[in-house]
This record gives sequence, structure tokens and C-alpha cells, in this order.
Amino acid sequence: MKAILQTKYGPPEVLKLHEIEKPAITENQVLIKVHATSVTPMDYRSRSAKAPLWPISRILMGVRKPKQQIPGSEVAGEIVEVGKEVRKFKKGDKVFGFGHDTYAEYTTATEKSSLEIMPPTMSYEEGASIAFGGVTALYFLRIKANMQSGQRVLINGASGGVGVFAVQLATYFGGEVTGVCSTKNIELVRSLGAARVIDYTKDNFTKETDQKYEVIFDVVGTSSFSKCKKLLTEEGIYINIVPTYRLFFQTFWTSKRGKKKVITGIAQNNDDLSLLRELIAAKSIQVIIDRSYPLEQASEAHAYAEQGHKVGSVVITLDN
Ligand SMILES: NC(=O)c1ccc[n+]([C@@H]2O[C@H](COP(=O)([O-])OP(=O)(O)OC[C@H]3O[C@@H](n4cnc5c(N)ncnc54)[C@H](OP(=O)(O)O)[C@@H]3O)[C@@H](O)[C@H]2O)c1
Repeated sequence: MKAILQTKYGPPEVLKLHEIEKPAITENQVLIKVHATSVTPMDYRSRSAKAPLWPISRILMGVRKPKQQIPGSEVAGEIVEVGKEVRKFKKGDKVFGFGHDTYAEYTTATEKSSLEIMPPTMSYEEGASIAFGGVTALYFLRIKANMQSGQRVLINGASGGVGVFAVQLATYFGGEVTGVCSTKNIELVRSLGAARVIDYTKDNFTKETDQKYEVIFDVVGTSSFSKCKKLLTEEGIYINIVPTYRLFFQTFWTSKRGKKKVITGIAQNNDDLSLLRELIAAKSIQVIIDRSYPLEQASEAHAYAEQGHKVGSVVITLDN
């Protein structure tokens, strides 16, 4: 099968197309024919080795070369083989969600993998653009911050892979949303439900003096708790999902002292994908795709996404 391999760390050009063996499944696995995958920050950081929380991240990714030789963490495709112990999926099921080694024509999964059956109206490109951003936004807004209807929520980085879901979900849960993005994305962020939009190329939201928020959700990690503290309500929550050792310390410290809280960490993968599936099928929220590239152009796709200005998702398609 065709697959992209990253045999060493480096720029997007280290991603090379190879012909390799199709994976064989065990009795509790399924084989998925991949139709689409995506480029997430996790993918290009695992390739370049420029991940937050050095050196722990480097040890996890592989000290000398990437442990994960085939990149990719999101998948949309069709199940083409089913192990005899598998009950949840059947041959022909079209699935989407989290995957591994997805820059390839085939990948494997188990019943425990975070995969959902695609609604009939969902395209493969859309299916490959939901898990990373959507589950992260849901996890931090709902599970960690326990966001409630009527709360004022500011989302910094409102137009990116996580941001487009965060704006829509916070709006869906009844929040009054302020989105922070650049000029070109103002209309999009407004159309996703933001009541107010701040253009970061003109105004610095941390310098606002007349606003208070129950939740500040910094998706791009350009702010800090010290700068946002005055904008939080008495028991307000500051979430920053680009973790640093300082943020972990602040999370610990504010959990013991004071009323304003800091939250950071890594999103846990749970049942949130099924809720996202329902909301997308009901057209309560939409999937935003910036661009698509064929598998052969995976390095171009990485080079584009890595600039840090993608709008929603960058998709990689496979012409199976
Ligand atoms: N902790 C976790 O569990 C977790 C999970 C998922 C993601 N993350 C992290 O979250 C971050 C964002 O992920 P993503 O997929 O959303 O990234 P992304 O799609 O690459 O984000 C790009 C977006 O950020 C916007 N942006 C860039 N600079 C900005 C600034 N100064 N102020 C406001 N917006 C700005 C860009 O808008 P313009 O083009 O308008 O500049 C663009 O739309 C990544 O660092 C990722 O690693 C963490």
C-alpha cells in the first residue's frame, strides 16, 4: 500500500511516499481503508520534534527519531476487514474519529478505538476534521470548565482547528461568546455564533477594561493567566491548552488557593465523539475545512498548516 513515512525529524520534506506492506489485523481488530486524514499541530510537531513540554515530549515521541513512523491521528474511511472477536463494527461501515498511522491507504483499529459511524450526510473530508478539534473543545469547555448557559466565554484562536468547534459548542451550550481572530476570519467566527469578535491584529483583548468573562479559553496559547486574571469574574476560569510547566504549576496552585482557576493539560479521549456526531448530523454545528491535499502532497499540507494560520482543518485525501 501507499504510505507516507517520517523516518527522521525535520522539515515537511522528511515526509516521503513509500510502498509498504498492508497491515494485517488480529482477531480483535478491524482494517480501515483510509479515505481522508488531516494535519493537526500534533502531526507536524511529531515530525519536527518542536513540541511543548520539552524534554518529556521528546522522550515520548522518540529521542533520536520519531517512534511513530507513519504520521496521522485522525481518520475517515471504510471498514474492509473485521476480526472474528469484533462485535461493534461490520464490513462496509463508514467510520470517522481518532486513528493512528493514518497517512496510508489502510490502518487498523479496535472496538475500543474512538471511532463513530459516519452520518449519511457526512463526507470523508468532514469525518477526518472532527475528532482532534471537537473533542478537545468539548473536553475543556464541558468537562474541565463545566461551562453553563448564560456564561460569557472568550475564545482566543477562534478560527483554528480547535477554535471553530469551541466557538460553536460554547454557543450551543448557551454561552455568550467573544471570539478573537484576525481580520480575514471575523465574518467566519461571527457566523459560527460569536456575539462579539475581537481582531487581534488591531486590539489586544487582555487590555480590555470593560469586560468580564466566566471562561477565557486560549486555544493558541498567546496569552497568560497574569494578563487575563483581571478579565475573569470572581470565580472565573482561565484555560490554556498549549501546556507549559508554568501553566501546570498555576493549575496546581490555583486548585489550592484563590477563587480564579487555571486549567491546562492534555484532552482526554472519551465519549464526546458521539455527541459531536449527533450535533453535526443535526446540523447544530458544522465542520470547517480550509484546504485538501492528496496524500502525495503531505509535505505541502504540513508546510501550510505549520504556518499556524489554518482555518479549521487541513485535510489529506486518498483516491482509493
Ligand atoms: N492540550 C491539548 O489537549 C490540545 C489538544 C489539541 C490542540 N492543542 C493545541 O492547541 C493549539 C491550537 O490547535 P489548532 O488545531 O486550533 O491550531 P491551528 O488550527 O493551527 O490554529 C490556527 C489558528 O490560530 C489563529 N491564530 C494564530 N495566531 C493567533 C493569535 N495571536 N491570536 C489569535 N488567533 C491566532 C489563526 O488565525 P489567523 O490566521 O487569523 O491568525 C488560525 O486560524 C495547538 O498548539 C495544539 O497543539 C492542545
